[in-house]
Amino acid sequence: KFENLAKTPPMGWNSWNKYGCDVDEKLIMKMADEIVNSGMQEVGYEYVVIDDCWQVGRSEDGEIIVDKERFPSGMKKLADYIHSKGLKFGIYSCAGTETCQERPGSRGYEFQDARTYARWEVDFLKHDWCNTSTQNAQASYSIMRDALFAAGRPIVFSICEWGKSEPWEWGKDVGHLWRTTGDIRDSWESMISIVDKEKDLFKFAEPGSWNDPDMLEVGNGGMTTEEYKTHFSLWCMLAAPLMAGNDLSDMTKETKEILMNRDLIAINQDVLGKQGFVYRDNGDYQIWIKQLDNKEKAVCLLNRSDEVKKVQVDFNLLLKANSSIGWRTYIDPYELKDYSVRDLWEHKSVNIGDGTIFLTIPPHAVKVFKFVRN
Ligand code: GLA
Repeated sequence: KFENLAKTPPMGWNSWNKYGCDVDEKLIMKMADEIVNSGMQEVGYEYVVIDDCWQVGRSEDGEIIVDKERFPSGMKKLADYIHSKGLKFGIYSCAGTETCQERPGSRGYEFQDARTYARWEVDFLKHDWCNTSTQNAQASYSIMRDALFAAGRPIVFSICEWGKSEPWEWGKDVGHLWRTTGDIRDSWESMISIVDKEKDLFKFAEPGSWNDPDMLEVGNGGMTTEEYKTHFSLWCMLAAPLMAGNDLSDMTKETKEILMNRDLIAINQDVLGKQGFVYRDNGDYQIWIKQLDNKEKAVCLLNRSDEVKKVQVDFNLLLKANSSIGWRTYIDPYELKDYSVRDLWEHKSVNIGDGTIFLTIPPHAVKVFKFVRN
């Protein structure tokens, strides 16, 4: 695969969660405009990805045919437009004979498709797993990896086989990110069940290779503002790709504040590239920790229950917690006096006294703190 890509989790927007098959070039251009106008580009969102349904067939010589009604200007023009905004262009295909929406897949056409994407100046490819019959996932995705490499244009390769063949075991050599579960839905239950899958996979993430718990649902309306804050916080703690999946032209103040929380994005984009791990699991209440560069650390206190929780938090212990030797060990020789603690949703420092404080966390909510070195 191409090294030196996706050294931090990719950030951008993808059409699927909100628009499904209802995509056309006007929409994609509008979303590119909105990434710039809303300020999202400034905080790191970069890839504009068209998901399924842009393709309608193959010509006699095997070239993929773009839906002319929906994309009359063609993909190269669209890529040019997106690039002119300083953004990057992503597209979708499938390792099987057909995509999940029964459009032509890339099976048997990998090298030709990769050359086509390179010609269009594509920067990101999401590669799905429908209609794959008895294909082997690692082998199939390796063919597309080789095809992209041979085409010569650096393209982030996003593996999307839903965790079926344990892609965290082999994905590092094949792509830059790999889906770990089936599709997210815009509900608390769906979101939190994905998080449960993710928590055992923290050791497989590193710069250039990320677990992908699927795209964001923030702003799509199925969760409360508090739940969307939790969703976004956990994706940041998980070092997950941050692909917005909402209508960027119609965002509430709350949606903007969530998607553009710079403090949380900095946690997600931390150069050390460690995925957060669960340090304490009391079922309804979890403490997540993410090690950061420069001996810093992020802590996420998660109330999964339907009731308000009162908790006692010992920052002395949290500062020392490290996942690198087994689970829940206290090995980092850090001292609280060298740090201040910042609340990443309140955007201010907290006075933690001698290190232990009491907090009240609403249902389905989080508190996220960062140990910042003085
Ligand atoms: C699969 C993927 C989704 C989306 C659809 C498109 O379900 O997991 O993310 O790409 O296909 O058909």
